[in-house]
Amino acid sequence: MAQREWWRSAVIYQVYIRSFADGDGDGLGDITGLRSRLDHIADLGADALWINPWYPSPMVDAGYDVSDYRAVEPRFGTLADAEHLIAEAHDRGLRVLLDIVPNHTSSEHPWFREALAAGPGSPARDRYLFRRGRDDLPPNDWRSVFGGPAWTRVADGDWYLHLFDPAQPDLDWEHPEVRADFADTLRFWFDRGVDGFRIDVAHSLIKEPGLPDVGEQRYPPSRVEVEGQLVRAPWTAHPHWDRDEVHEVYREWRALAEEYDPPRIFVAEAWVDEPERLSRYLRPDELHTAFNFDYLTTPWRAADLRRTIEETLEEHAAVGAPPTWVLSNHDVARHVSRYARLEQVAGRGVGGSAADLALGLRRARAAVLLTLALPGGAYLYQGEELGLPEVEDLPVEALQDPTWQRSGHTDRGRDGCRVPLPWSGVAPPYGFGPGPATWLPQPADWGPLSVAAQTGDPASTLELYRTALGLRRATGALGDGSLRFRDDLGPDVLAFDRAPGFTCVVNTGTEPVPLPAGGRVLLASTVPAPTDLLPGDAAVWIVE
Ligand code: NOJ
Repeated sequence: MAQREWWRSAVIYQVYIRSFADGDGDGLGDITGLRSRLDHIADLGADALWINPWYPSPMVDAGYDVSDYRAVEPRFGTLADAEHLIAEAHDRGLRVLLDIVPNHTSSEHPWFREALAAGPGSPARDRYLFRRGRDDLPPNDWRSVFGGPAWTRVADGDWYLHLFDPAQPDLDWEHPEVRADFADTLRFWFDRGVDGFRIDVAHSLIKEPGLPDVGEQRYPPSRVEVEGQLVRAPWTAHPHWDRDEVHEVYREWRALAEEYDPPRIFVAEAWVDEPERLSRYLRPDELHTAFNFDYLTTPWRAADLRRTIEETLEEHAAVGAPPTWVLSNHDVARHVSRYARLEQVAGRGVGGSAADLALGLRRARAAVLLTLALPGGAYLYQGEELGLPEVEDLPVEALQDPTWQRSGHTDRGRDGCRVPLPWSGVAPPYGFGPGPATWLPQPADWGPLSVAAQTGDPASTLELYRTALGLRRATGALGDGSLRFRDDLGPDVLAFDRAPGFTCVVNTGTEPVPLPAGGRVLLASTVPAPTDLLPGDAAVWIVE
């Protein structure tokens, strides 16, 4: 089972290809750059990589606007480069997941061009969601995730739906051709050795018939702070998120993935905050895993973390799926900077208050030990192994995320977590590529954070990750399985045992707490490792 069901405990490293490594010197990461740095991922100890979209794209939304699902964007390389990369990853024991974007295409996709040319009422428009408006108003009140209305009007008077940018028209998943074409795309890549897919906005494909207004419920926060504690708002049906009918699509995809040997796998990107709703995507005949965004958005507080973990474990166990744990990705502020806020609250952004980055880094180091000790699998976002902070001061003229424009310049968007990685050297581009350029500017003080600067330094965050991942593999108690919480270490401490003979202790408070007696500290987030008192914002792994 271990081999066939590798995904139950996998640590998957997210390669944001635009910012990982540049092979040709144009300032944008690419497949050649990724191939040249594959050893970094293998040496780190990951089991697999997930690569953000590398398909031909006008890049309005950094590649999530796909114009051809069965080819490679020339700025990233060629299909042959992709095939080499897949083979080279496999040679290193790394599996490869791609990113599929089924909710919308690019407005440059041949289908959308055809739809525009064919005009109102034409069959070509039926692959998308074209509608007449309400007089001069859009067909309904839906909002784009990036800001503004979710509808754009074309010259002939029709409106089309885009839950994201106008350059990302939503497909109509009731259309059989849409379903058949995506099945062909899955097969195209599976036939080339790809081990699975991350599914972009997996919960948005199906819309309520008639496209009714969202109305008052608009986008209610799923969890709110009440007297310093997170309280979950009740789930309510929504006309375009998490519709029950979406599960039919994933049953078909699972069956398709099972035709392969070894079976291919899926991970859902579904911002479904209710654990029971999320677990529906993970029923035995649907998807394998899903990102656990509840965990990502939980504040650094023992009681809240414990509640999130308990709910996650319970709901995943109910469907027999392994939980996953994730702290960062390319859509959220880097967790060093989220944790750097003393009054850090639930969410994916950074608050307005001043950042204490040393505090954020201490918590981030503790958080990865927690993450890797929990049952199931984990996702790491490139650069977190370097302890990179969010770049919060990118000059506005450098900002590229469509959120910046769509929000009327009120939301700076997600570029701050997408800055190209520092590999070596003391000044930009820090070995990112052979040329001087990087598509987003790198901070002047990232020299000490580079891979080269941290390698071999036992106090560095990179070496902490390498050691933790190595020990995780070597420690039988870790990976898939169960845990038992301990209640003997105080309210600011999150602690649990895993059999055989493993304990993880995380102190989210400010006061040191005594370590449980009788074990040996295997790994600590602090340097040096504590012997009897665990400081605040620190974690240890203890073995018998
Ligand atoms: C989720 C992706 O992670 C994000 O980067 C993208 O903007 C949206 N989906 C739209 O595709």
